[in-house]
Amino acid sequence: MKLTVPYIAGDGVGPEVTAAMRRVIDAAVAKACGPERRIDWREVPAGQAAFAQSGTYLPDGTVAAFRACGLGIKGPLATPVGGGIRSLNVQLRQELDLYVCLRPVRWFKGIASPVRHPERVDITVFRENTEDIYAGIEWESGSEGARRLYAFLHDELGVSKVRFPETSAYGVKPVSREGSERLIRAAIRYALDHGRKRVTLVHKGNIMKYTEGGFRRWGYELAQREFGAELAAGRLEMDDCITDAFLQNALLRPEDYSVVATLNLNGDYISDMLAAQVGGIGISPGANINYDTGCAIFEATHGTAPDIAGKDLANPCSNLLSGVMLLEHVGWEDAAQLIYSALERSFAEGYATRDLASLMDNGKPLGTRAFTDHLISCL
Ligand code: NAI
Repeated sequence: MKLTVPYIAGDGVGPEVTAAMRRVIDAAVAKACGPERRIDWREVPAGQAAFAQSGTYLPDGTVAAFRACGLGIKGPLATPVGGGIRSLNVQLRQELDLYVCLRPVRWFKGIASPVRHPERVDITVFRENTEDIYAGIEWESGSEGARRLYAFLHDELGVSKVRFPETSAYGVKPVSREGSERLIRAAIRYALDHGRKRVTLVHKGNIMKYTEGGFRRWGYELAQREFGAELAAGRLEMDDCITDAFLQNALLRPEDYSVVATLNLNGDYISDMLAAQVGGIGISPGANINYDTGCAIFEATHGTAPDIAGKDLANPCSNLLSGVMLLEHVGWEDAAQLIYSALERSFAEGYATRDLASLMDNGKPLGTRAFTDHLISCL
């Protein structure tokens, strides 16, 4: 079986980590599945290279290729701060309505961690990707839009709580029932499919009663309505936790959590905190998925690392583990498992790129290419 996978190599270290990811994945697929299975990689342009070629950062053909194949993988893309183009990552998520940001967080033996028991962390975060205060509906302080919005709030809706209306900037936080339900449904199905019992809704519904509180209420209602049999049979447990308490608990008793469903902003903070807890902030993978159309784009979670680009120093693990998630997504579990084992063995022996090896007691730093060769030899 041949699987076509469009990929964006990315900017900065993107081409280096993408080349490493492809080599390890091809070797693992060949080893686990034999010659009848292989990946047909199709590079699609995006980012600075695409702009240099065609004058556009995200050509229509690239989005069309992801849509047609229903999956793909991307390296990091540069986004200028405070002006210029808007994030290509956000653009891709919006155009393909990839409403789940999936971030599995686990520890690899050998990786240095700031906590005493990183092995207790095995949490998969479902972060809502399309709504919340992140939707980008905001008005600058002093702008005509801010003035008119405040006038509407004050005059039409009787809002008198804005402390400094003249100099306030304003943001709108849309949270819908449909948007919450599709995210929570995906988290519950994932838990059931992966033999994980507990799904925790993380929210600030104590303060934001209708938006975050709505998310919590709709989640419990959906679970009862659509997964009542699983709840009754004890195959599924739903609970919820207020975000600030969750951040403490996940640090003190991470074993209490398994699958987490949460809103966009909470999910942003939570996934990075958990990744830091396992020492994996630079190597944690991610995916953006629409579970209704099946479209899934896997991505390294770090940026373009311009300071080390082209120097054979980049750690390819975030991109590689995103590729492993892709293998799991299409059901090529054997190849995925081979790569997990190779990484475990390599890290346990201290072999890693410089960023990780420098923090290990037995660290043996390797360049990107040598580390890739080493992983292939461990398969
Ligand atoms: P960054 O993640 O590129 O770099 C932060 C630090 O981590 C740097 O010291 C870098 O050398 C190191 N680092 C990152 N990836 C590494 C790797 N694979 N191996 C070893 N070290 C690594 O974040 P920064 O500097 O804030 O952003 C640079 C550019 O990347 C910006 O244009 C930003 O918009 C973009 N970016 C893109 C993302 C994406 O496409 N998903 C995500 C985050 C940032």
